[in-house]
Amino acid sequence: MNDTIIQLAYLVATALFIFSLKWMNDPATARRGVLAGVAAMVMAIAGTLFNPGILGGNYKWIALAVILGTAIGVPLSWVPLTAVPQRTALSHAFGGLAAGLVGVAEFYLMASGAHEVTKFRVGALCAEVLLGFLTFTGSLMAAGKLQEIKWIPSRPVTYSGQNFINLALLAIAIICCAMLVMNPTEYRALFPVVVFLALLFGVLLIIPIGGADMPTVIALLNSYAGLSAVAMGFMMDNKLLITAGALDGSSGLILSIIMCKAMNRSFTNVLFGAFGQVQATSAGGEKKVVRSCTPTDAAQLMEAASLVVIVPGYGMAVAQAQHRVREIYDELTDRGVSVKFAIHPVAGRMPGHMNVLLAEAEIPYDDLVEMDEINPEMPQCDVCLVIGANDVVNPAARTDKSSPIFGMPIIDADKAKAVLAIKRSMNPGFAGIENALYYNEKTLMVFGDAKAVTGEIAKHLAGDEAA
Ligand code: TAP
Repeated sequence: MNDTIIQLAYLVATALFIFSLKWMNDPATARRGVLAGVAAMVMAIAGTLFNPGILGGNYKWIALAVILGTAIGVPLSWVPLTAVPQRTALSHAFGGLAAGLVGVAEFYLMASGAHEVTKFRVGALCAEVLLGFLTFTGSLMAAGKLQEIKWIPSRPVTYSGQNFINLALLAIAIICCAMLVMNPTEYRALFPVVVFLALLFGVLLIIPIGGADMPTVIALLNSYAGLSAVAMGFMMDNKLLITAGALDGSSGLILSIIMCKAMNRSFTNVLFGAFGQVQATSAGGEKKVVRSCTPTDAAQLMEAASLVVIVPGYGMAVAQAQHRVREIYDELTDRGVSVKFAIHPVAGRMPGHMNVLLAEAEIPYDDLVEMDEINPEMPQCDVCLVIGANDVVNPAARTDKSSPIFGMPIIDADKAKAVLAIKRSMNPGFAGIENALYYNEKTLMVFGDAKAVTGEIAKHLAGDEAA
């Protein structure tokens, strides 16, 4: 009877996990997708609690774990949207740690003769432990880099022979695993070595990667955590773990591939490219002219336009300027100006970053236009308002073969009749490179924090209307 309940709960949970991923693909159904994911997880945990091995045991420890998990998990969810990538990395770290620890417990139960030992189970266990522990330390490093923790440098840390050392460590760990599979009792002492190497490998894998590439790497670590759960599922003969882990593993991999494509980078470039180091500025010292204007000038320019295209970027997210941007949108559309938002697939620091922020400010979804759709309209755009975006509007991606972002598709802001760019300085963005758009003669910089500047523009537009 218990087994039927467990299998039924697992079946429903599996279906809900699949629907959850499907629904999360569309903003209209995303909320339902999140609820389906939560329901699936509840079913999975409830089903597991019916396991006779647990039923006969002591629930006190489980209750303690639930209380502790809730006490840590709830405050962890109260992070600003810009901190979601590092928050997600922490979740993967915990997932990896859990998988790794289950593997350790199972190995010693096998070694003591309490659980069945087969080559297949030991192999799956080794894969679980390797992937779980490297995901744990790798994700902690990724979260630390993104949070810019003092003792974890966000810049890529590289040294000669680094890739060779990393691969050699991984090879040693795999050889130890192979020996354990051959004879777990005789080579028992190698197990802690595998754990240590996996923990070390996680750190070494992440240090050469710049903080800027972390969101892509986090998606990849997500995939490793999923694969570790698959291995755990095979080892424990748990079908739900296998399917849920496979879903997690494949969706993480697909997401990282989508992010790489949108940045026109290869996996190897992300993992070994040491991207995100600020480039030295040209030694020629050629004088470039930067034109700037006040928020009032910017408001007047937009009032007179027929079509305004707003390009939001990471700076809008940092400044939390989306509500002021909504006010500008309202004021301009009230005057009959057509306003559209150009959404670049990798604007910000996580997939869908701009969509989420603009949805929070209740900007009509129909006015959010994908890059491929908006670009043909850019020559008709009277004013392109760039808010805290940089790389996603950098024409070097189209023209400069030596640029690290060459080939990345961009929003053609430079094709608009006039450009207004809100940012605090002439500092580069994520890729660490200069942006010719900001020196273009049709561009006017509006220097300042995005929230303050958009607030000023909105105030001016509202004042004008009242007058
Ligand atoms: P960035 O190129 O990073 O540029 C953001 C700009 O915002 C900076 O130049 C900065 O200039 C400005 N800024 C920062 N804080 C600000 C504030 N408070 N007020 C006003 N401006 C502010 O951003 P982007 O154009 O959105 O491009 C995203 C980059 O991230 C791409 O290179 C992409 O490949 C990369 N990336 C994205 C993702 C995803 S999935 N979205 C994942 C990995 C990597 P100042 O300092 O002068 O203000």
